[in-house]
Amino acid sequence: MTPRIVKTVAELRAACEQVRGGARVGFVPTMGALHEGHLALVREASRHAAFAVVSIFVNPTQFGPKEDLSRYPRDLQGDVAKLAAVGAHLVFAPEPGEMYAPGDDTRVRVGHVAAPLEGERRPGHFEGVATVVTKLFAAVGPCVAVFGRKDYQQLLVVRRLVRDLLLPVQIVGHPIVREHDGLAMSSRNAYLSSDERARALSIVRGLDAASRAFAGGQRRRAELEGLVRSSIESAVTSVDYVEARDADGLDAVGEQLGERAALLVACRVGSTRLIDNVVLGEDPPPLG
Ligand code: PAJ
Repeated sequence: MTPRIVKTVAELRAACEQVRGGARVGFVPTMGALHEGHLALVREASRHAAFAVVSIFVNPTQFGPKEDLSRYPRDLQGDVAKLAAVGAHLVFAPEPGEMYAPGDDTRVRVGHVAAPLEGERRPGHFEGVATVVTKLFAAVGPCVAVFGRKDYQQLLVVRRLVRDLLLPVQIVGHPIVREHDGLAMSSRNAYLSSDERARALSIVRGLDAASRAFAGGQRRRAELEGLVRSSIESAVTSVDYVEARDADGLDAVGEQLGERAALLVACRVGSTRLIDNVVLGEDPPPLG
C-alpha cells in the first residue's frame, strides 16, 4: 500500500482524528533522505501504535547560516516508496510556509541539556529543533514519537521539552542503526567520497575501542576519550569534540566515570560534519 501524502496540518489532523478513536498514533519526525535508520524508527512506531505517521520536513530554523540547508538531500518520491515498504500510513510533507506562517514569531528554547556539545557548536540549532518538534507534536496530537539515539543530545532535549511543556507525547528512543562496517547511518553520509567514507570509519573504531576498554574495567575519562581521539585524529579533517558526559543530563563528569556514561563525538570529514556516540555501560560495543 502506498501511503497517502498530505501537505497541510488540517489534513494531517483530520486523518489522525479519523483513525484515533482511542487508537494510538505513532509518529516519526524526519528531514527525509531516508535510510535504514529512519525505517527502523518507523517499524518501532508501528510496534507501539496502529497508525504510523512520518513527517518529512527540512526544517530551516535548525540550520545555521553556514550549514547545509540548501544542499540537504531531498527525495520525496524515493522516501515515500521506502515508507510504503515498511507500512507507514501517512506522510506529512509540508512546505516551509505551512510550518512557519508569515509573521511567525515564537521559539521554544530548552535550557541546560541543550547548552553543551551540539548546542555550543551550532548556536540556535536546538532552538530550531525544539520549535519544529513542538509544532509537529501539536499538529499530530497525542502520539508515541520515536527518536534515534544517533542524535543522542537531541533525544534528551526532546524528552525535556515534552516533560516541561506537558505535551501529550510518549517518547521512545531507538538504538543507532549502523552500516555493515559500523558507520552510523546518516543522510549526510551521501556527501562522503569513498576515501572520506573510509576515513569516517575511524569514528566507530574509536568508540568501539573505548567501549571495550570500559567493559574491561577502564573508568578513567581521559583514557576513554583518548582512545577515540587517537583513532580519529589522523583520519578526520577536524575534531569538534570527544567527550564523556553524564548519560541522562549531559552534565560534565569527573576524572573517574561511574557505571554508565555517554561518550559523544563530532568531527568533520572533508566538509561533512558527522556525529556518533555510545552509552558506556549500556550499549554493546558498536562493532559487535
Ligand atoms: P533526521 O536527521 O532526518 O533524523 C530523523 C530521526 O532519525 C532522528 O530521530 C534521528 O536520530 C534518527 N536517525 C537518524 N539516523 C539514525 C541512525 N543511524 N540510527 C537510528 N536513528 C537514526 O533529527 C532530525 O532529522 C531533525 O532534527 C528532526 C527531529 C526531524 C527535527 O527537524
